Parts: sequence; C-alpha cells; structure tokens
Amino acid sequence: MDSISPKNNPLRIGTLVLKNPLVLAPMAGFTDLPCRIMSRRFGASLAFTEMISAPGLLYNSKRTFEMLQSTEEDRPLGIQLFGSEPKSLATAAKICEEHGADLIDLNCGCPVRKVVKQYAGSALMGDPNRMVEIIHSMVEAVKVPVTIKIRSGRDEDSINILEIAEKIKHLGLSAITLHPRTAAIPYSSKPRWDLIKELKAIVPFPVLGSGGLITDQDVANMINNTGVDGAMLARGALGHPWLFDTSMRRLRGETSIIKPSLPQRVELMKEHLSMMIPLYGEEIANRLFRAHSLYYVSGWPQATWLRGNLNQVSHYSQLCSLLDQYIKEYNNSDNTEALDS
Ligand SMILES: Cc1cc2nc3c(=O)[nH]c(=O)nc-3n(C[C@H](O)[C@H](O)[C@H](O)COP(=O)(O)O)c2cc1C
Repeated sequence: MDSISPKNNPLRIGTLVLKNPLVLAPMAGFTDLPCRIMSRRFGASLAFTEMISAPGLLYNSKRTFEMLQSTEEDRPLGIQLFGSEPKSLATAAKICEEHGADLIDLNCGCPVRKVVKQYAGSALMGDPNRMVEIIHSMVEAVKVPVTIKIRSGRDEDSINILEIAEKIKHLGLSAITLHPRTAAIPYSSKPRWDLIKELKAIVPFPVLGSGGLITDQDVANMINNTGVDGAMLARGALGHPWLFDTSMRRLRGETSIIKPSLPQRVELMKEHLSMMIPLYGEEIANRLFRAHSLYYVSGWPQATWLRGNLNQVSHYSQLCSLLDQYIKEYNNSDNTEALDS
C-alpha cells in the first residue's frame, strides 16, 4: 500500500523546513513567477526559477535580472544558477541571496549545447574537481542552503554520479537532486531510479529524485520504492499544477482522488495567463502562454483542433471566448471521466 513515512514529511533542507516533500523543478522557459504560483496553490512546498546565467547576473543583464522577479506568495524560492567559474558563481549566489533566494541550486545537469560549450551544466560532470571548487566557493559565499541538481552522467559510457557523490558529500551542501538520465539522452530514456537509491546511501544530506514523474502514482512509486527524501515534479506538473495535491493524497493512501473538471481547468488556464500579462505585457504573455496551454489541454477531447486554435490566440479575451465555446461543446461527464491526469 502507498504510504508516506513521517521522515519525508516535512522535508528539511539545511535551515529550510518544507511543509511536504514535493517541489517544482527548474524548467527553462516555464517556471517563471506565474507558473510557480500555480504550483504553490496546489501545494508545492518549494519552487525553482529556471536556470539563470551567473555571468548574466555579473554583467547586469536586464533580461537575466527579470528572471529573479518574485513576490511574498512565491516562497520559499529556489534560484538555480549555471556557470563554470567558482568566483563568478559565488558572486552570483550572493546577488541571488540579496534578491530573496531561500536556497541556491547549482545546475550540473543541463545538456543544452549553448550551456555545455561554456563548460557549465552537465559539462561539470566531466570535471568533478571544478565542481568541487564551485560548490566550495558558493557554500562559503552565502548563508542560505546551497544544493545541486545533477544527472547520472554525460552519456551511457560515463555514468559517474556515485563517484561524484563521494567527492562532494562533505562540502556543506544541503541537498542534491538526481535526474538519473544521461545528458546524451536528456528526456526520452527510462530514468534509473535505482541510482537515486544508491546515491541516498552515500550522501549525508537529503536526496530529491527527478525524472519520469508524470502521474501521482509515479510520484508515490518513486518515494516508496527508492526511499528518496523528496520528489521534484517537472513535465508532469506543466499544465497540471494539481499534480502536487493529487500526489500528496496518493502518498497519504487516499483512494478516491478527484482531479479538476474541464471547466475548472479552463478557469486555471485563464488565471495563469492573467498572472503573466502584468509581467510581460499582453502580446508576449500570450505568446509565452502557448507552450503552457499545450500541456493544459493534453488528453482533452479534440485536443489537436484546440491546440491549433490556441496557437493563434494573441489576447486574453480571445483565450476566454475560445475556451468558453469549447466548454459549451465538450463539457459532459464522459469527457471529464476520460481526462488522463
Ligand atoms: C522544458 C524543460 C526545461 C528544463 N529546464 C531545466 C533547467 O533550467 N534546469 C534544470 O536543472 N533542469 C531543467 N529541466 C529538467 C527538469 O528539471 C527535470 O529534471 C526533467 O524534466 C526530468 O523530469 P520529468 O521526466 O519528470 O519531466 C528542464 C526540463 C524541461 C522539459
């Protein structure tokens, strides 16, 4: 039977005490302030910004600083940094602390070429000594907890997460998140949850697991099968922010878990977009929201037709009338029953 052990609830990361073990992952292009707020409303105990360039902060890039925007409701906040120079990451960590970060995470897993070319992200897995230096300087620089997020290795022939764990376990980190896929196969392979279990046996601080958490049952399976301290929800929470709530219910052993109906999901979409408009302006907000709306409508009846139309939306009022029209046509109990997750 699925159950949640008391040690997982709440979760302590350094000085932070989180109300539950479920956190929102950093996701580039997605986890801005409105996306984080949506997840928090359904129970995310911690939410991360997307990865932020340490050099960008040092060069005072306006676009980079905009990514730090936050509010009181957006707490506790994890800011994720990427970079390759110990000094610049220490300075960037201080800047984030001054901007209200409750936790600072170092990206050691990003497979994107633009990042790897700068010897950052997953490139650090090929240079563990540099990773050690960076962690050391970040931990020295700030008072808030410092964590890292990492993959199993750069490719299938260089899976070195457990060797790295031995090197970094006494550097003052407060937690580690493992996404146990390699940088060479970033998302499509089956994540190796067995490595999460092995990592937990090595490090003296909490381990969070990432990878393959699409349904509440996936979340319960990861926590119960690996003994991990917390789960980091990523693609499963995009367009489905209630995954935090349904996963907590599943972990508590509740049997009848009700998900939002089609009309409720429509209201959530409207609310999400309405939070983006003051931040980006009408035009950019609508453009950016398209990526979210594709996740929201996944599994809905006539989703392909709806996606096509959502891609044309350029104004809040257009989104509302399209979705209201859709609901008139398709909202019936059969369709709500059929919603996947
Ligand atoms: C669109 C997208 C953007 C991502 N951006 C980041 C990022 O900025 N930093 C990071 O550490 N991981 C990033 N990730 C990886 C996720 O945080 C997570 O580890 C990964 O999606 C695996 O979880 P899942 O299989 O449950 O989606 C991103 C993933 C996606 C899909």
